[in-house]
Amino acid sequence: MNAAIRTVEVGGAQPYRIAIGPGLLDDGAMLAAHVRGRHVLVVSDTHVAPLYAQRVAVALQEQSTQAQVMVTCLAAGEASKTLDSFAELMRELADFGATRDACVFALGGGVIGDLAGFAAACWMRGIDVVQLPTTLLAMVDSSVGGKTAVDLAQGKNLVGAFHPPRAVFADTSTLRTLPERELRAGLAEVVKYGAIRDVDFLDWLDVHVDALLAKDDAALAEAIARSCAHKAAIVERDPFEHGERALLNFGHTFGHAIETEQGYGGLNHGEAVAIGMVLAARLSTALGLATADDADRLRALLARFGLPTALPTGLDADALLARMRLDKKAAASGLRFVLWDGAGAARVVSGVPDAAVLDVLRAG
Ligand code: NAD
Ligand code: GLY
Repeated sequence: MNAAIRTVEVGGAQPYRIAIGPGLLDDGAMLAAHVRGRHVLVVSDTHVAPLYAQRVAVALQEQSTQAQVMVTCLAAGEASKTLDSFAELMRELADFGATRDACVFALGGGVIGDLAGFAAACWMRGIDVVQLPTTLLAMVDSSVGGKTAVDLAQGKNLVGAFHPPRAVFADTSTLRTLPERELRAGLAEVVKYGAIRDVDFLDWLDVHVDALLAKDDAALAEAIARSCAHKAAIVERDPFEHGERALLNFGHTFGHAIETEQGYGGLNHGEAVAIGMVLAARLSTALGLATADDADRLRALLARFGLPTALPTGLDADALLARMRLDKKAAASGLRFVLWDGAGAARVVSGVPDAAVLDVLRAG
């Protein structure tokens, strides 16, 4: 393997490797090593497919001479992460004649990764999926750990499955074409790892804000590898989120409620999570956990990355609270939040009083 390529191993019952570095999408031999059968479906979206799908299809076809490679393309954006898109993929796999040894390559951001991963989880009760993340967010979070899902109007990711990939290839050269807003969104999930489990990483991020925003190769590779190492360490111990994996949802109960309330057409996931982390930190302060200084430092770091840190105007606190009740992280006993103990530590707290949550939402 090329010296510029870093790897992170994800252990557990179904181990796999995350490869991180430039040029991976052109390495047909490495991609094709995961093709077992005669059907390869590359799933992508209308922004990513014109940039990269042909390259991937050609690289795969050259190496998998026995297989037929088909590319399918969905409309870009969260609004495509639906049961309708899922049904479309099921019909395409049926028309393709895909057998149980077929392989899906998810080429795109988290929307494509979640959707194509869910299709792979369901087609014939489960076929192989290889994740080819092209957003920073997908490289550091959604392509790793096997969570796949689609959204409903009622809530984010409500229909899905755990379906780990066979492999993840994070081709960092694809970040060259990633819009700045999407880069910032990915940085929100990077900050999350520092916030919940790595003070040194938070300090490193503080120093490297400018380099990361300038897409400095070395800084991005370091941030991706460190983030993936954190995610791998957690998901290999708790693949089905019975315990510590829930900590990865820091900021997500608020964030998902914002995304759903905006009809999946407002803030993107990373932006909503950034606001969610600020609100979760404030809630933690109100409940006597993190200090106000900790919460301010987190907010300031997210702001330096150009991320929003306050609720957008027009969102109603009661409506957001109602959304949170349907979040997967809510339990019968009441609202459950990942709360923050200050830099580097977080915990799951059940039965958080509505009044405390509403106070934080109303303060915005
Ligand atoms: P996305 O997939 O919508 O991608 C963002 C935008 O960037 C899209 O318009 C896309 O077409 C475009 N794009 C992607 N790569 C590009 C590139 N290299 N060059 C140019 N444009 C490019 O959004 P996302 O932020 O990657 O993912 C968000 C989704 O991930 C949400 O649905 C969220 O729920 C999910 N998610 C899942 C997990 C998980 O564990 N499964 C974790 C975190 C987030
Ligand atoms: N993004 C949260 C998780 O994978 O568990």
